[in-house]
Amino acid sequence: MSNEEKEQKFQEQIDSNGHIEPKDFMPEGYRNNLIRQISQHAHSEVIGMQPEANWITRAPSLRSKQILLAKIQDEGGHGLYLYSAAETLGISREEMIEQLHAGKAKYSNIFNYPTLNWADIGAIGWLVDGAAIVNQVSLQRTSFGPYSRAMVRICKEESFHQRQGYEIMAKMMAGTKDQQAMAQDAMNRWWWPALMMFGPHDTDSPHSKDAMKWRIKRETNDELRQKFIDKTIPQAELIGLTVPDADLKLDKKTGRYAYGKINWEEFHRVIKGDGPCNKQRISHHIKTHEKGEWVREAAQAYKQKKVKKEQVLTA
Ligand code: 3HC
Repeated sequence: MSNEEKEQKFQEQIDSNGHIEPKDFMPEGYRNNLIRQISQHAHSEVIGMQPEANWITRAPSLRSKQILLAKIQDEGGHGLYLYSAAETLGISREEMIEQLHAGKAKYSNIFNYPTLNWADIGAIGWLVDGAAIVNQVSLQRTSFGPYSRAMVRICKEESFHQRQGYEIMAKMMAGTKDQQAMAQDAMNRWWWPALMMFGPHDTDSPHSKDAMKWRIKRETNDELRQKFIDKTIPQAELIGLTVPDADLKLDKKTGRYAYGKINWEEFHRVIKGDGPCNKQRISHHIKTHEKGEWVREAAQAYKQKKVKKEQVLTA
């Protein structure tokens, strides 16, 4: 088949809602877009463990410590599924980590903000994982097989993440005046960066046109952002939290909220590396990656020994 015929067959597979598997023909642009998005998704999961880990030793009860430990462990696992999905496209784990350490690969803006108190752990679970769920439920229908299957698995765990965060916020809003003030302050600090998680407006999103044509994305950045806003505002109002947006306006007919302007200058500053915690997040990742060298060497040695043993047995 000529390249044109292969590309046509590929697009027909996409248009018929079929999965593209690693061994199938795919245009380089499709492969590169997926390597970029999936590796950055994986980086986000792993870097996202840091702000929450900050509160493991200071969780207010044994139960809340257990829940937080379980959630953080889940995030590490999500990162592994996603790195593995990206590896099926021909990039190695080492290359992806090198890109992250060299600042050549991004991770989600949201993880560059500090977690100042326990209410932030509630806001992250409720808002950040809540936003991730909206995005990842949609990505379950992505055209690349390994990514879609990883999303199905990850979404099963995300709802627990969102519910435990909302429970923390609900408890604090039912608590003392100080706890209510802490929860509201966390809402004020995390609301807008959570909206930025969905990426720039569709008109400013350089990757969306191809991503929608190739069904890597099934809904656009703005469509998913709107879904998140419409479902989260009633949750905030239910527990007495105020959404920090004076321009919010509910259209009763559609159930959609008009919202205020997002500060894209802050978004671009943060994703360029100049957020409150960017340097700390990367230096911590580099330090722990170097410290973990011996684990990777041991696993490699074990694998080689196992392969050698199988070769002897089958010789
Ligand atoms: N943070 C950092 N960079 C972002 C971003 C964000 N929130 N949103 C967009 N960008 C970057 C893009 O990576 C791209 O830069 P690049 O060319 O260097 O990669 C640029 O801004 C233009 O954005 P586009 O909209 O054109 O890019 P995409 O088509 O990739 O759309 C996206 C952005 C919607 C985030 C898409 O990549 C996506 O859906 N990714 C998968 C989901 C994901 O990564 N989520 C991160 C959070 S994971 C998480 O929350 C874990 C939870 O369990 C806690």
